[in-house]
Amino acid sequence: MAEEPVRPVPRTVVVRAGSITYPFAFDSGQLNRTGTWREAVDGARTVAVITSRPVAALFPEALRAIAEAGARHVVIEVPDGEDAKTLDIVNHCYQALAQAQFTRNDLVIALGGGTVTDLAGFVAGTRKRGTRLVHAPTTLLALVDAAIGGKTGINLPSGKNLVGTFHQPERVVADDTVLSSLPARELRSGLAEVIKCGFIAEPAILDDLPDPARAASQQSERYLRLIEMSVRVKARLLADDVADRGPRRHLNYGHTAGQAIEMASGFTLRHGEAVALGMVYAARVCELLTGTDGIVSDTRDALTRVGLPTRLDATVSFEQMWELMRQDKKVTPGRPSFVVSPRPGTATLTPMPEHTTARAAFDDVLRPG
Ligand SMILES: NC(=O)c1ccc[n+]([C@@H]2O[C@H](COP(=O)([O-])OP(=O)(O)OC[C@H]3O[C@@H](n4cnc5c(N)ncnc54)[C@H](O)[C@@H]3O)[C@@H](O)[C@H]2O)c1
Repeated sequence: MAEEPVRPVPRTVVVRAGSITYPFAFDSGQLNRTGTWREAVDGARTVAVITSRPVAALFPEALRAIAEAGARHVVIEVPDGEDAKTLDIVNHCYQALAQAQFTRNDLVIALGGGTVTDLAGFVAGTRKRGTRLVHAPTTLLALVDAAIGGKTGINLPSGKNLVGTFHQPERVVADDTVLSSLPARELRSGLAEVIKCGFIAEPAILDDLPDPARAASQQSERYLRLIEMSVRVKARLLADDVADRGPRRHLNYGHTAGQAIEMASGFTLRHGEAVALGMVYAARVCELLTGTDGIVSDTRDALTRVGLPTRLDATVSFEQMWELMRQDKKVTPGRPSFVVSPRPGTATLTPMPEHTTARAAFDDVLRPG
């Protein structure tokens, strides 16, 4: 039976990142309200909105509300998608901020998906050794993951997210109405990170997955529940491990292989699609290391329910994936840094699988037919 489109009540998750706390503040429709931005601007003379052209075209009302919030404002348009995450674009943003005579008290607003929050976070975190930042995520993936925790990332030709810093936003303006314009493929991509949270910490998530082929507005309560559960998982894991040296690493589940596959595919795969494949791969590695069955089938079952890929059909070879995996900045040879989930709701770190196991897992579950 179709769920009624219920207008949810506002709710806030307080994110603690070491000594810093900030609200992940949910409220439907708040992106377009001047009041939201008046509160966020709080004393800044200038506001710089970093966004891409397609996102700006989708959210003219949000840009208007920001413009009316009382500060001088500039919009810095950057390329869409991964093309934004380059050092050239970082430099372009620095120059635009300099032209706007931007000071440390001024505010950067990231309006967009995870590529925009990664770029804007890096720009804000590095210009003048740290400038104020507010995230306004517009994709499911950015809502549940990229906009919280303060990780920023810029790609180099040799690997994804190889340049970055930690820089926390002052708040996350979370508005689920952004989901209504997201294509099903982008919803699925975000659901990969949601499913990841189910496997590493919160198995209830796996029992409550939406149907991305149906309008998000018809399932808004379910999406809100999933966003909140996922944000709580991330907030719990990063609270005492901002620098990613302990439990926060569990959030990398599926990412060691996933990011390598994403890059090797030339970004033809969405981030979440690659993470989905990375989870299937990690599941097989876990089966090979522990002699247990059923982890791959559980993983494929959850991913298939939302239409995510569970087999690789892009032209990515084991050698390409392996080389990129070994360059992952989070991987230290001989030290536990590869995340496995032996059963839904649990995660543990093991050393990177050695070459024979790594290849066997690829051949078993990923090798294109
Ligand atoms: N920093 C972190 O902790 C973290 C965590 C996870 C992922 N990431 C990064 O996030 C990036 C992926 O983010 P993403 O999937 O949001 O990609 P994205 O930013 O490229 O957005 C995907 C596409 O959706 C479009 N879009 C954005 N909002 C829309 C809306 N409301 N309606 C319709 N279309 C919309 C964009 O124009 C873009 O083409 C990757 O670079 C990944 O490395 C970072």
